[in-house]
Amino acid sequence: MANIQIQNVHKSFNDIHVLRGIDLAIPTGECVILLGANGCGKSTLMRCLNGLTYPEQGSVVVGDQDMAKTRGRRLRRQRQRIGVVFQHFNLVDNVSVFQNVLYGALGQQPGGLATTLQALAPQSLRQRAMQCLDRVGLADQATQPCRELSGGQQQRVAIARTLLQAPDVLIADEPVASLDPRAGRAVMELLIDIVRERGMTVLCSLHQLELASEYGDRVVGMKAGRIELDAPRHELDRDTMAGLYQGVVRVDEQQPTPADTALAYSA
Ligand SMILES: Nc1ncnc2c1ncn2[C@@H]1O[C@H](COP(=O)(O)OP(=O)(O)OP(=O)(O)O)[C@@H](O)[C@H]1O
Ligand SMILES: [Mg+2]
Repeated sequence: MANIQIQNVHKSFNDIHVLRGIDLAIPTGECVILLGANGCGKSTLMRCLNGLTYPEQGSVVVGDQDMAKTRGRRLRRQRQRIGVVFQHFNLVDNVSVFQNVLYGALGQQPGGLATTLQALAPQSLRQRAMQCLDRVGLADQATQPCRELSGGQQQRVAIARTLLQAPDVLIADEPVASLDPRAGRAVMELLIDIVRERGMTVLCSLHQLELASEYGDRVVGMKAGRIELDAPRHELDRDTMAGLYQGVVRVDEQQPTPADTALAYSA
């Protein structure tokens, strides 16, 4: 059964046609790596998946809900099932690592924000949060303010927060783009191990082709608002992936005229 089923999705901003008929199905428990050049529409597609933006046409079914039509309380409930990890971590810098993880329970706890505050959170929740921190190797840093951590450690905190949320689906938008190669690889490894353990369905965008060839089950590539590539990871080579970065790749680029193309070839 597909946990994510995107059908014929179109989305425009002003006069830019960003998503140009996207079809994508991701079965439960599969990890899909999303590739594509800057401005090809990856983040817009991911934002459609958790109701941060809405397509004008098409359906974006996650579990049993069409996110293109879900609003209000149903949307809030649905968002608890969808974890998100971003390039810039989205942590609260001046509170502790532990408190940031507790925020992962926001929306699950009766009593809302208050019961996710360190001083008021029930013992069972605090215990679970500590287990999540332990899983990402940061139990020793629990009391430190997040701003004092390295980028790699901050992304681990964000992963621990997602673990506490315990979603079925994870959307990771360039989770290692701000990290150096070694820290990026370590975070990617941790992320993949955790989603496997939990059986999460994953859509994860990356810009590093070498990581795309090592992690995940399947690679989907976008070019100028369309899906250009969709294949099991083991069947893909670097040249095929590199093709996603050649020619007209951005959605706000003009299609080259025949004259431009002739000039490029004669240069
Ligand atoms: N809220 C918005 N308002 C107007 N234009 C937008 C908005 N969000 C995205 N766009 C435009 O949509 C296009 C695709 O952007 P998007 O962020 O989806 O690309 P991306 O593939 O994630 O790129 P990157 O790799 O740089 O993150 C860009 O031209 C961008 O300017
Ligand atoms: Mg993006």
